[in-house]
Amino acid sequence: MIRINKYISSSGVCSRRKAEEYIKNGKVKVNGKVIFDLATIIDETKDIVMLNNNVIKINNDKVYIMLNKPIGYITTNNEQFGRKCTLDLIKENIRVFPIGRLDMDTEGLLLFTNDGEFSNKLMHPKNKIYKTYIVKLNKNVTKDMIFRLTHGVDIGGYITKEAKVRLIAKDIIEIKISEGKNRQVRKMCKAVGLKVLNLKRISIGHLELGNLKLGTYRYLKKEDLKKIFE
Ligand code: URA
Repeated sequence: MIRINKYISSSGVCSRRKAEEYIKNGKVKVNGKVIFDLATIIDETKDIVMLNNNVIKINNDKVYIMLNKPIGYITTNNEQFGRKCTLDLIKENIRVFPIGRLDMDTEGLLLFTNDGEFSNKLMHPKNKIYKTYIVKLNKNVTKDMIFRLTHGVDIGGYITKEAKVRLIAKDIIEIKISEGKNRQVRKMCKAVGLKVLNLKRISIGHLELGNLKLGTYRYLKKEDLKKIFE
């Protein structure tokens, strides 16, 4: 049993909000009758739902996609100002949503799925999935900075949890964090006096971006999914 707007969005034809609009505009029929009640409950084993006189069925296939996000794209489900969105790069008929987000100025590994449970599991702090970033900074990084980044810094009233930090070059670090506060890496670097010049996410758990070309994507296989939670 499932609410009508969720049924329609789960079929992949449109978002829940759009589905509500269709219902209000009399475009949705259940068992041959137009319905206007947003609270209508559908029994997916027997009810026939139609949108604009086409039968729609729930899509139970779960998909998982990895994108190499370029700089200049925003991660949102609902862009209203005509800015470039990461979803524009996913040229598939199936409806997916991003898992978490990367800032407009950040590039690298971003996942998409239609599996809400999977997304929640990945995002939940208790699961401590480490995300790895390569960070190019405006000046050389000292041992003291690495120590502070590792053990927690104040990013505006919040002390960050243990991070794993490694110097790659004088002004480049690799940082692994298991949290996902807004602009966290940039704020952490700022807290120790550094400015981020370039930020790229290269892995989530043990799943690596590898040599996926910038702006392109690929479907994840079972082995890939396992790597995330390893
Ligand atoms: N930290 C940031 O500052 N930006 C991101 O996009 C991700 C992590």
